[in-house]
Amino acid sequence: MKTYEAIYQMLAQKDDFVTGKVLGEELSISRTAVWKAIQTLEKKGLAIESVKNRGYRLLSGDLFLPDIIEQTTGIKVFFNTKSSSTQLDAKAGIEKGNPSPALYLAPCQTAARGRFSRPFFTPESGGIYMSLHLQPQLPFKQLPSYTLMAATSVVKAISRLTGIEAEIKWVNDIYLDGKKVAGILTEAMSSVETGLITDVIIGMGINFHVTDFPEELQSKASSIFSGKPTITRNQLISEIWNIFFRTPKDDLIKVYKEKSLVLNRQVTFVENDQVYKGIAADITDTGQLIVQLENGQEKVLNSGEISLSSW
Ligand code: BTN
Repeated sequence: MKTYEAIYQMLAQKDDFVTGKVLGEELSISRTAVWKAIQTLEKKGLAIESVKNRGYRLLSGDLFLPDIIEQTTGIKVFFNTKSSSTQLDAKAGIEKGNPSPALYLAPCQTAARGRFSRPFFTPESGGIYMSLHLQPQLPFKQLPSYTLMAATSVVKAISRLTGIEAEIKWVNDIYLDGKKVAGILTEAMSSVETGLITDVIIGMGINFHVTDFPEELQSKASSIFSGKPTITRNQLISEIWNIFFRTPKDDLIKVYKEKSLVLNRQVTFVENDQVYKGIAADITDTGQLIVQLENGQEKVLNSGEISLSSW
């Protein structure tokens, strides 16, 4: 662990000031080295109060600790401070033959993409951007509903750690008080020879403590925390993947339905230039949305866009 990471951990554990002397003694480093580490933390966006004779106190911000995430999840973490997209980091990792499961994590991204290749807003600080690489080696039809499982894991992790109850808008969006706080993008690669899905990349963008949304997003997007976060991003990341890997798939799908924003509500969608209206009646275990149309017919949606009629 780097010196500034160790100092961050010591400050994060205390609500009060910690003197430079205590920090230095604990880590067997000089007061100057402590001061340099504090400067590094400030450069990384943390706000630290420094008072003569009292020391340092963490005011806001947190630091990604890939080692801690690895220890608490057992998943190898590749951390890239200069990522264009963690999906691309994962793809590069696959090319290189990196182990799997592996988590590609970044504090920001310069070219993040969501579903339908839409740009995904990624500010310089306050977000969580990560892509999990799995190697299922399964036929497409036997593939678990990774997007559903991941969405439930995010909602459950937020609830367990904070008591905040987010909801899921089919199929891949996490909402809080009517605004999107996270999005999931699952991509798969198959082998022409075997016909099996060799690699899956589950990308997640979470607005953890994002305060500077561009004007066009302000009515649609929000953040888990608008004030000082009560947990760290490391805690949330570890909790998400521990839930994902340790909860039986059927339980995750069940909770997905319970947390659904759309089930039993009127939805509209467009198919072949025609607008349809109906009630979202069910979500299948493979993630399809069953819509009961006004004319009594049933439509099975695989992906795509739906709107809630009341919005
Ligand atoms: C969506 O809302 O359509 C899905 C958004 C997925 C964004 C995440 S951020 C981490 C990973 N890297 C990307 O470029 N995209 C995903």
